[in-house]
Amino acid sequence: MGHDTVETPNLSFGRGATPDRSTPYARYVRLDELHSLQHPRSKEPAELSFIVTTQVMELLFDLLRHEWTIARQALREDDLPAALAALRRGTHAQDVLVDSWDLLATMTPQEFNSFRSLFGEASGFQSAAFLHLEFLLGNKNAALLAMYDGMPGTQAGLTEALRAPSLYDEALALLARRGLLPPQEASEQRYRPSEEVAAAWRRVYTEPESATLRPLGEALLDVAERVTRWRQRHLSAVKRTMGGKPGSGGSSGLTWLRKSAEQDVFPELWTIRDGL
Ligand code: HEM
Repeated sequence: MGHDTVETPNLSFGRGATPDRSTPYARYVRLDELHSLQHPRSKEPAELSFIVTTQVMELLFDLLRHEWTIARQALREDDLPAALAALRRGTHAQDVLVDSWDLLATMTPQEFNSFRSLFGEASGFQSAAFLHLEFLLGNKNAALLAMYDGMPGTQAGLTEALRAPSLYDEALALLARRGLLPPQEASEQRYRPSEEVAAAWRRVYTEPESATLRPLGEALLDVAERVTRWRQRHLSAVKRTMGGKPGSGGSSGLTWLRKSAEQDVFPELWTIRDGL
């Protein structure tokens, strides 16, 4: 069974009179631009996978922002099925994000050292797309906006995300509209766990009349668990490639990242589990 036994797709699109004679595929996915963006600064073969991994993750951060923004809006509109669908799509993007660490799994300290000095103070800590996700989760920190003083468009987008209710705020607002919780103030500070919110989720998980909200609790937990998984795999990659050296972004490195990996996302959804 060869290819010649099946009908051949159209191969003649390059013959048209249009000045751009690339394939429709190349034009649609902007292949020339995409493949012109990888510029290793060293001769170390492993640097290309470091750059590609970072770019892949940046694209996925943005995709996730898209899904979580849709989910947040749907929650605001009381459209639970639309919110769950967007969170579900996001969960799969998160799985790919977590698995993307495999691309760096074999990198040795020697390989990493051979290009580390060439990217200077660059650090994923400066990723605006990642920070946007943190704000959407409720991990807000206004001080970090100073990093983007030279990028007004980026700073404006992040300021808006800082001021807007987080995904979790909108979930809690929905619980409040269902009479499970007094209305909560959305804050521009990092979300702090509260006993009132824990009590509301406890009711969701125990009272039959609130059972329709359980899928939302579970979907948020799916998100939260994958955020932590990504942080844990980042931590392992750092431990393996640079041990306890300080980070290029100026942090203590491992100690700082470990602390962030230990903080539960949507904390009450975890703490109520001992009583369920
Ligand atoms: C082996 C490769 C990597 C090492 C050794 C590494 C190291 C570090 C270190 C030490 C930090 C703490 C901040 C600092 O002082 O720089 C950090 C933060 C960060 N890195 Fe990486 N990193 C690696 C790969 C990546 C990749 C591929 C991405 C994808 C974009 C990434 C995204 C981030 C983000 C988003 C933060 C901030 C984390 C947070 O705020 O919790 N890192 N990284």
